[in-house]
Amino acid sequence: MACRTTAGAADYLVAGLTMLEYRGYDSAGLAVSAADGSTAVFRTTQRVNALHDLAKAWGGPSLGGIGIGHTRWATHGGVRVANAHPHQDCLRRLSVVHNGIIDNAPHLRAELQQLGHVFQSDVDSEVICHLVEDALATTGDLLEAVNRTVQQLTGSWAIVVLDGETRRMVAAAHRSPLLVAHSDRGMFLASDVSAIADWVDEFHILDDGDVVEVSDELVWLRDGVAVDAPDPIASPTQASGRRLDAGDHMASEIDEQPEAAARVLNDIGSLIANGALWRGLGLPRFDRLRVVACGTSLNAGQVIGAGLSRLGGLAHSVVVASEAAGSVIEPGTLTLAISQSGETADVLRAIDESPIGTPVLALVNNAHSTLARKVGSVLVCPAGPEVGVAATKTFVCQVLMGAGLVISALVASGRMSQTTARALVDDLAQTPERLAAAADSARLALPGVIEDVRNANGFIFLGRGAAVPYAAEGALKLKELTYRWAEAYPAGELKHGPLALVEDGTPVVVVDDADPRLVGNIAEVSARGGRILTIGQPGSRIEVPLSKHSPCGPLEAVVPLQLLALNLAADLGFDVDKPRNLAKSVTVD
Ligand code: G6P
Repeated sequence: MACRTTAGAADYLVAGLTMLEYRGYDSAGLAVSAADGSTAVFRTTQRVNALHDLAKAWGGPSLGGIGIGHTRWATHGGVRVANAHPHQDCLRRLSVVHNGIIDNAPHLRAELQQLGHVFQSDVDSEVICHLVEDALATTGDLLEAVNRTVQQLTGSWAIVVLDGETRRMVAAAHRSPLLVAHSDRGMFLASDVSAIADWVDEFHILDDGDVVEVSDELVWLRDGVAVDAPDPIASPTQASGRRLDAGDHMASEIDEQPEAAARVLNDIGSLIANGALWRGLGLPRFDRLRVVACGTSLNAGQVIGAGLSRLGGLAHSVVVASEAAGSVIEPGTLTLAISQSGETADVLRAIDESPIGTPVLALVNNAHSTLARKVGSVLVCPAGPEVGVAATKTFVCQVLMGAGLVISALVASGRMSQTTARALVDDLAQTPERLAAAADSARLALPGVIEDVRNANGFIFLGRGAAVPYAAEGALKLKELTYRWAEAYPAGELKHGPLALVEDGTPVVVVDDADPRLVGNIAEVSARGGRILTIGQPGSRIEVPLSKHSPCGPLEAVVPLQLLALNLAADLGFDVDKPRNLAKSVTVD
């Protein structure tokens, strides 16, 4: 992020970066212009708050209101202070923060080194400083220098360049989110509006290839030509009163799930059985569904796709977004891109690379996200802000929204009767209560369960049919939070390899939706000393009220699975809101 204010840049930057802490990072830094034309740089591999202390302890020339700041999630180069942003040119005149990946950095670095530039870090981003340095020496104009620099880059970037000598500030973006906002406090730039929402009412989003000088006014270049700033968008999270920097976020987000589910049903409940939800999207009829997503959203996609096939007999495929390139898309396919953040680079690339004319529907939790803006048809989940890195309530909302979408589309295309649809909607309406009961039941049983599995290094999660994606989600949550190995399999697949992992005491978590075939699979594990933990039908270790007819399958089982991961992680002393190595919004592919 960056700011151009009358005073106190370090305070604004630390406050803004703190609001983004929840997204995950491993180092952070600031560059603030000083009274003598120099730039003070503070960097740390500790929390953002350490920057506040470093800036307070600064004994140099007084610091002003112009500065840039960054939180880094390591891609190129290890986690060390020298690799933290901002980076600087050889003369320490220019400071740069960068999100994204410069694909041709190795080539540019070699060229720049031949020209005599000296690099201080291992990161790709540093080439930008040296390229701007050279271009500035030639042109004498920072805006033109940045414009020339970005033409030499391939990859993705959201950058802000600060010239300490002239105090000019220029930003540029390509395939990485960046927005700029003006208010009576000054000018602000951020990759996510939540960093600056307390200080601005509206913002402008940079388009791919835009280069913008931020002085008292905005000078906006598109393809090198000066244009008006794009229309402003109202800041959505302003005055939300929500603190994103402290608190037990994940625990409260799990607690909020019944409420969030009720919000989804309130929003779309009356639009499902009459087909209005689908018709309102203005999309063509489809014969098969292709889901594109990552992580937890991918598991939600598995539930939604399986629901479509089960209820409507239509084919579906679920594609890991980073592997979507080259997948064959048959005529009559609808692509459903699911991403709670709407900023996941792998999903954005997959959509960019879809053949032109392919209908795409986005399911997001943020109406202003890049994915939502990129795609013509959008469904927005009313989950509210989710701060814990591990997704919980957004998953539940995605699944319910997706189930509503599937039923509505089947009705609209004449593949399901309104009577059948109404019965399914009535069943969905019970979901909030069932989720709440699942949480109560899990809380009672979990202390004993944790006692049993505390020392286990590896876990296996099993399910059959509609339960398989929930087993996958349970395993994902467990590894994200507890750093224990956890693998999920369709229970029938166990005997084809994974059974070799089971030894005395190996925890095997079974999402038990009363599929009779599970009995044999459980026996196979028990015979080898595995410790079975069933979640689901009456008689399970954690009983969960499931509906046989829910279009979502055993959704309620996800609550004990989330709580198992959360409680075990807390028991082991880990920070559940900020798991190691992970980020909430992964904007690099
Ligand atoms: C990251 C997060 C996961 C998340 C995934 C997809 O890997 O750590 O928790 O499920 O991204 O995120 P999205 O915003 O696209 O749903």
